[in-house]
Amino acid sequence: MAKRIQFSRTGGSDVLELVNVTPTEPGPGEVRIENRAVGLNFIDIYFRTGLYPAPSLPSGLGTEGAGVVAAVGDGVTHLKVGDRVAYAQGPLGAYAEQHVLPAAKVVVLPESIDFETAAGCMLKGLTVQYLLRQTCPLKGGETILFHAAAGGVGSIACQWARELGVKLIGTVSSPEKAALAERNGAWATIDYTRENVVERVRELTNGEMCDVVYDSVGKDTWEMSLDCLKPRALMVSFGNASGPVDGVNIGILNQKGSLFVTRPSLNGYADTPERLKMMADDLFGMLDSGKLVIDVANRFPLADAGQAQDAVQGRQTTGSTILLP
Ligand SMILES: NC(=O)c1ccc[n+]([C@@H]2O[C@H](COP(=O)([O-])OP(=O)(O)OC[C@H]3O[C@@H](n4cnc5c(N)ncnc54)[C@H](OP(=O)(O)O)[C@@H]3O)[C@@H](O)[C@H]2O)c1
Repeated sequence: MAKRIQFSRTGGSDVLELVNVTPTEPGPGEVRIENRAVGLNFIDIYFRTGLYPAPSLPSGLGTEGAGVVAAVGDGVTHLKVGDRVAYAQGPLGAYAEQHVLPAAKVVVLPESIDFETAAGCMLKGLTVQYLLRQTCPLKGGETILFHAAAGGVGSIACQWARELGVKLIGTVSSPEKAALAERNGAWATIDYTRENVVERVRELTNGEMCDVVYDSVGKDTWEMSLDCLKPRALMVSFGNASGPVDGVNIGILNQKGSLFVTRPSLNGYADTPERLKMMADDLFGMLDSGKLVIDVANRFPLADAGQAQDAVQGRQTTGSTILLP
């Protein structure tokens, strides 16, 4: 038997329950991984609350983890039993001691990267890889606005932007989070719970405004984010921490300066094994060189997944949060 977190109805963190299950054997093209560390991401909360529908109920939760290959299905060529691996995509169910998923979504973990670091950065780090290196391939010299800059994704974005020579203005909700984002490489920070973000961006950029805004807060920040852009600049809306952006009149993009907008996802970028490997190699290279350090600031036992989600949803955490099976 193996333990996993599952939910039979959507709702608050109390719907999460720890259950014993018999681990399934991997089918063709699949592997079973014995997780050593599991990543907790805001998207897990969207599935738990029902904002994103789970394919069926009861359902497992989570898509990120790191561990050791315990069993290999037919036709899998790049992985074998005993390999150290990590993953950030695939079916819900990573909040578990054992998880079965397509081998195409799994990469071999370099010896230099420990399991906790991997669980703290596979989903968030690959996300920053595509945001800064693909959605808009930043060359250096750009000014960007990045919301929730002290969070899991934000902490990685601050460091990666500094490495690229990009001026990242990070929004945060407290002085402590501002100090953290600046230590991680944010060029400037704004407390979006107290300050006028558009006016502060105007001051900081001498009226020029931003080349790109990365907005994972959603509902609360959408329109203000558009106001922080230069004419013809790019709005990257990639999350809904405050609720989804809906009811948008596309004409607003004209009114606010012939803007571009995209709503990307990791699955849309790491959509083939080749692309996943290219992105993971870039991320692992950043880690190996010491240019990127993952701050696994919050560790919870697997059984306390609900408590861990409450901490992230309640804006109490900084950096990455992991669950330990
Ligand atoms: N599209 C993709 O491919 C993709 C991939 C990964 C993550 N994401 C998105 O990126 C965001 C960050 O993910 P994460 O896992 O690293 O989480 P996180 O940043 O560690 O936590 C979310 C942060 O959002 C901020 N926030 C603002 N308004 C909030 C509200 N009403 N409720 C809760 N938090 C609020 C909080 O920071 P402050 O206290 O400083 O405001 C909070 O710490 C999420 O929106 C997630 O969905 C998208």
